[in-house]
Amino acid sequence: MKHVNELLQKMTLEEKIGQLNQYSSTFDITGPPPGDEAGKQRLDHIRNGMVGSMLNVVGVAATRRAQELAVKNARLGIPMLFAFDVIHGYQTMFPIPIAEAASWDLEAIELSARIAAVEASAAGLHWTFAPMVDVSRDARWGRVMEGAGEDPYFNSVVAVARVRGFQGKDLSATDTIAACAKHFAGYGFAEAGRDYNTAEVTEDTLHNVVLPPFKAAVDAGVATVMNAFNEINGIPATADTRLQRQILKGEWGFKGMVVSDWGSIGELVPHGAAADLNQAAFLAITAGSDMDMESSAYLAHLPAMVKSGLVGEDVIDEAVRRVLLLKAKLGLFEDPYRYSDPEREKALIYNEKHLAAARDVAAKSVVLLKNDNNLLPLRKDKGVLAVIGPLADDTDSPLGSWRGKAVANSAVSLLAGIRAAVGKEVEVRYAQGAPLGVGTRSFVEELTLNHDDRSGFDTAIQAARGADTVVMALGEEAFQSGEGRSQVDIGLKGVQMDLLKAVHAVNPNIVVVLSNGRPLVLDEVAAMAPALVEAWHLGSQSGHAVADILFGDVNPSGKLPMSFPRHVGQLPLYYNHKKTGRPGPDPNGLVFWSHYTDMDNAPLFPFGFGLSYTTFSYGDLSLSNKEIAFDGTLTVSTTVTNTGKRAGSEVVQLYVRDLVGTRTRPVKELKGFQKISLAAGATQKVSFNLTAADLAFYTRDGKWQAEPGDFEVFIGTNARDVQAARFTLKATRPLN
Ligand code: IFM
Repeated sequence: MKHVNELLQKMTLEEKIGQLNQYSSTFDITGPPPGDEAGKQRLDHIRNGMVGSMLNVVGVAATRRAQELAVKNARLGIPMLFAFDVIHGYQTMFPIPIAEAASWDLEAIELSARIAAVEASAAGLHWTFAPMVDVSRDARWGRVMEGAGEDPYFNSVVAVARVRGFQGKDLSATDTIAACAKHFAGYGFAEAGRDYNTAEVTEDTLHNVVLPPFKAAVDAGVATVMNAFNEINGIPATADTRLQRQILKGEWGFKGMVVSDWGSIGELVPHGAAADLNQAAFLAITAGSDMDMESSAYLAHLPAMVKSGLVGEDVIDEAVRRVLLLKAKLGLFEDPYRYSDPEREKALIYNEKHLAAARDVAAKSVVLLKNDNNLLPLRKDKGVLAVIGPLADDTDSPLGSWRGKAVANSAVSLLAGIRAAVGKEVEVRYAQGAPLGVGTRSFVEELTLNHDDRSGFDTAIQAARGADTVVMALGEEAFQSGEGRSQVDIGLKGVQMDLLKAVHAVNPNIVVVLSNGRPLVLDEVAAMAPALVEAWHLGSQSGHAVADILFGDVNPSGKLPMSFPRHVGQLPLYYNHKKTGRPGPDPNGLVFWSHYTDMDNAPLFPFGFGLSYTTFSYGDLSLSNKEIAFDGTLTVSTTVTNTGKRAGSEVVQLYVRDLVGTRTRPVKELKGFQKISLAAGATQKVSFNLTAADLAFYTRDGKWQAEPGDFEVFIGTNARDVQAARFTLKATRPLN
């Protein structure tokens, strides 16, 4: 801190504002192509100390060259921060975040972020724009792939695991990187799931749903926070003083740095919040956005604003101090090149150990949705297996959206995974069958592809006929989800469903393996296929991991972190909804209750759902007490028995409902979970301790506290299938 303050005193106003400026590099840092005047100017800005950070400069050679430009040429030689979207791996790809969340395995999630940080830091990077901690409840939104789903508690614990993984124990170690909790706030509540759209978030939802994962990340020591593109309740998040200054930096005491999203300061103009870039810069800096990503608004306008007295230099100093402090924590003032070591780069990126870990996490992320008559696991010592579908031999989609520096087509396809797993005695027949039905990478592709091409149906039918089992790889390709990839139709695209029907007509022994970045509408698929495996986009080792599941080398243990709807019209859909005044059903069969007349309210597969190759039975739910004091602890217990024939893991889930509140409370709220492993026939007691802190929420008078009264507590295997009991939080404290 002393060093930072001393440095700050030496800096000119322009140099300070330079530290708040972040550019992206679209060209090799050795120099922009001829004629690229803007690129040339950026290099000059680096040389003149006008750039505090760059994103998208990656690799030891490039980061070293860029750092030299700043350190050797600028007056004070302040090193730059190199940032990149390391979302689910740098080059070794782990499952996309929503998939990894489905593992409900916090150690595995932390490990995946740890390995991503090891690889990223070995590539000269200091900072990732992850984790995304936006609660998301609308599967139309493409970025649901990047978070941990619909529940605030679950998002919080996953956020903490990811922050710990990226940042390790010590940010100054050369194998750790700064994390970034994003997007502050409300980005996941984009109306109708359309990316960048307006978010209307009530006080209740803001404090009880949207903010808790950010608070958890801050409490876990996250180094940075990114604000959001969206407006929230009429104010663009980037210009929201209450969110950034009052809540984040004030009430929560966040000492790290806030970065804008890409161009989001400039976007205050089209939002209609600022008349021009000048006003946008003013709004953003006064609201507490410390670093300007790619708007050049601060560089262009803050110097004059400070000179005219419109913005106090103390406001600039406060932001610059946060940037410099992060550089100090990363050890960049001792050695600006400490992350740029070619030996580490060679040894650490995409090594065997990392790939093995990626396979392990990937298998843990698979969710078994259906397995009629124990069709799975499959035999790998004899028989005929038909592998059919547009995603079966796809070596690219498993890498997912936001794939860092993954090498295109480097994933193990499902077909390759199956072939590697089975012995020679198994005949594997392959047919693509149909195109995916969507070309999401470019509009040109969209125009040229024949999405209705059925010319492969016959070959697929031939492959399926007489096979013992058909594995059908259906779903979405990598870039059907992610930023800017919202969709109104979240079913299987193109002729995939027709392909399934055609194959089913000749062979109903079908295991559908789904690849996707969001919950899909699967009603027809689930009705037709006896076995359904949710395999998301699982990363580099995808095919091996899915084969591990299909052949039973790994017993599936994943559980859904988002509800899977029956129909897109149900969205947004989440288990922790409010009860309403008319929860129904109406005892007289009338329609006047909160429901659809043409569709069930319930999802097809609920939050927390996932099967195993074994079965678990739950014993009675027992409470240590019927009452709990404000300073007391209630122990909620059950026993879980593995009633099947093989070892397996179960995620035991604890939910609570506060029956009456000054603000109405959800019908259920996840408050804890334990992933336990049980040998066949084994029984384990599982206990959770609840205190008043676990029952706290943002009350009507704006306090985070528990309210006395009656509660229901539930333990179960998912949000739907639970046992319940009641207890009372005693009014040992006045209600104020
Ligand atoms: O980190 C991302 C953000 O999530 C969306 N806009 C671009 C940023 C930088 O790539």
